Amino acid sequence: MSSSISPALLSRLSAFVEARMGLHFPAKRWPDLQRGIRTAAEEFGFEDAESCVRWLLSAPLSRPQIEILAGSLTVGETYFFRDKKSFKTLEEHILPPLIAARRDTGRRLRFWSAGCCTGEEPYSLAILLSRLLPDAREWDITIFATDINPRFLQKAAEGVFSQWSFRDAPPWLQERYFTKTEAGRFALLPQIKRMVAFSYLNLAEAAYPAPLNHANVIDVILCRNVLIYLAQEQSRKILAHFYRSLQEGGWLSVSPAEASHLLLSEFIPTPFPDTTFYRKGGLPLPPLIGAPTAVGERIAPAPPRVSLQEPTSPKPSKPAPPAEAEAPPPPLGYADAVQRARDSADQGRLADALKWCDQAIAADRVKPGGHYLRATILQEQGDLDEAVRSLKRALYLDHEFVLAHFALGHLTRQQGKTKESQKHLANALLLLRDYPPDDILPESDGMTAGRLSEIIASLEDSGTAP
Ligand SMILES: C[S@@+](CC[C@H](N)C(=O)[O-])C[C@H]1O[C@@H](n2cnc3c(N)ncnc32)[C@H](O)[C@@H]1O
Repeated sequence: MSSSISPALLSRLSAFVEARMGLHFPAKRWPDLQRGIRTAAEEFGFEDAESCVRWLLSAPLSRPQIEILAGSLTVGETYFFRDKKSFKTLEEHILPPLIAARRDTGRRLRFWSAGCCTGEEPYSLAILLSRLLPDAREWDITIFATDINPRFLQKAAEGVFSQWSFRDAPPWLQERYFTKTEAGRFALLPQIKRMVAFSYLNLAEAAYPAPLNHANVIDVILCRNVLIYLAQEQSRKILAHFYRSLQEGGWLSVSPAEASHLLLSEFIPTPFPDTTFYRKGGLPLPPLIGAPTAVGERIAPAPPRVSLQEPTSPKPSKPAPPAEAEAPPPPLGYADAVQRARDSADQGRLADALKWCDQAIAADRVKPGGHYLRATILQEQGDLDEAVRSLKRALYLDHEFVLAHFALGHLTRQQGKTKESQKHLANALLLLRDYPPDDILPESDGMTAGRLSEIIASLEDSGTAP
């Protein structure tokens, strides 16, 4: 099927898909939308894609229609222990105090992997939990795992994976938690499989089923690499929903590329040494393993470590290592190095992103954008002091760099430097007056002047204390 779809119809289709499924297809992604809809049209039994689109637009989408569309419009990239830094933060900072607090109060833990794809993310969490809790059988643990794509869910529930799902996994994973099938695939142990409950959920739906509704029952939500595909307005609603689903003091993890979606939410960004998590409520930070917990208990004995970062045996050979892993990197020009840095950051590979960003700065030291990008990566790594230094360099090179003023205001606010923060936010607002509200701000990846003004106003409304 090769017939092309008129831009007017594609525009209506993208608005429709955004409203019903949350999926964001701006004009630059229309080629993806067109490709996806052609595949779906074949599945719906249409000879040409345009008639299929008209048919879809003619009535509200039914669940089977959404499922078929999801099968061709969603991105299914995932693997075990993707973004090790988040799992390390869970292992070292988030789960130990949570486990200690619940040990004597019901031994109940609830997790939610939203946009779980083929299951690697919730199963990684299940494996981590079973390692942290040798007495896991005496606990009431549920990991809810939801997705809009029924094919992904079916594969997830089967629990059988190819080598590709282990492309960045620690070597012990396959040995201890999987059995090899005759077809050379890897079947997850039943006791781990049982910890995860998969179900269909379109996050863009107005109401979620229990217990993922407003029930304040969830301890930790992982919604990683999902919001990047969704429209900002849908993300806002979904985040409000997550907020209500979480217990007071509960946690949300998103990927670094999605952090900007959280700016207008109620979540409190909480930087850890390796990454930032987002918290409901302003409870004190959980202490490190072995230190007194938020509820005044001491965690003992120290749980077995998963040691994602330091494998004990050599890693299995990986198929097709990412380009960023090649050493030494070729000397690139400013624009190419910036692009590499952005791509790496989008995929959560922050050390690579920093390396590329430093290369961009070396290629052109007087471009303020390079220093700004460096600051955003450092912030994500939790190195706020160095991020502040990079932002000051960016402003030294361009006093009118609105986003750098804003970022500095946001960062110094997190550092508790209220006066300094207010000064930078005021500077940003002053500069924003010169922009028409619909203008896209330089270095912003699509943020308009009007929207940034709203964000600053909401930060000011929510008080000055960090
Ligand atoms: C790139 S995968 C991320 C998988 C996993 N969270 C990770 O980080 O490895 C994105 C997932 O989001 C799901 N998704 C996209 N839109 C959704 C929606 N409206 N509701 C629920 N899931 C959605 C897709 O089907 C896909 O499985």
